[in-house]
Amino acid sequence: MPDGSGKFKLGVLGSGSGSNMQAILDAIEEGSLNAEIVLVLSDNPDAYILERAKKSGIPAEIIDCQGYKTRFPDDSQKLIAEKLKDHGVDIVCLAGFMRLVKQPMLDVFPDRILNIHPSLLPAYPGLMAWQQAVEDGAQESGCTVHYVDAGMDTGPVILQARVPVLPHDTADSLHARIQEQEHQLYPEAIKLVWKKLSHTQ
Ligand code: GAR
Repeated sequence: MPDGSGKFKLGVLGSGSGSNMQAILDAIEEGSLNAEIVLVLSDNPDAYILERAKKSGIPAEIIDCQGYKTRFPDDSQKLIAEKLKDHGVDIVCLAGFMRLVKQPMLDVFPDRILNIHPSLLPAYPGLMAWQQAVEDGAQESGCTVHYVDAGMDTGPVILQARVPVLPHDTADSLHARIQEQEHQLYPEAIKLVWKKLSHTQ
């Protein structure tokens, strides 16, 4: 819950570089997002997102997935949900988190878990969406922030941004341009969700 400053609390889960988490932090620092990131969690001990968190003085921990390469075991989800609750988290942001979140977390944070995905969902769900778009010969792609449900990239859309696929785009060049849009979109979507939640609390 928000403290006296009115700031609401975010928990971020990521598996990679964490540029989206950085964009959220930048929006907070610029004063355009009245929130704070109170906990960063990663299933990948080498993920740069953990470094970013440490540099910003944010508690960061590794998620123990019990040796599973891609699964997010129920027990691990329960533990993570408790941790996030203990830190007073209002909204959970998946930012490049590569495991499927299911009921154990959804039950604790109903309509409070968001994900950013690098395509105009429902097009190209799953991994490497930018590569799927290039291989498919798409003329347009983009990014989506959506609520997380028990499916893979299937939850209700909150905001989307369009990005043209240019004739000479490679998977990497398209992903780089999509990421520029992601970094604008995620803070905006968080703001919208918090506004909605504060009106219904
Ligand atoms: C982002 O492009 C995000 O949309 C994507 O991973 C990247 C993470 O970048 N997520 C997915 O593909 C989820 N299915 P980041 O670690 O620099 O934020």
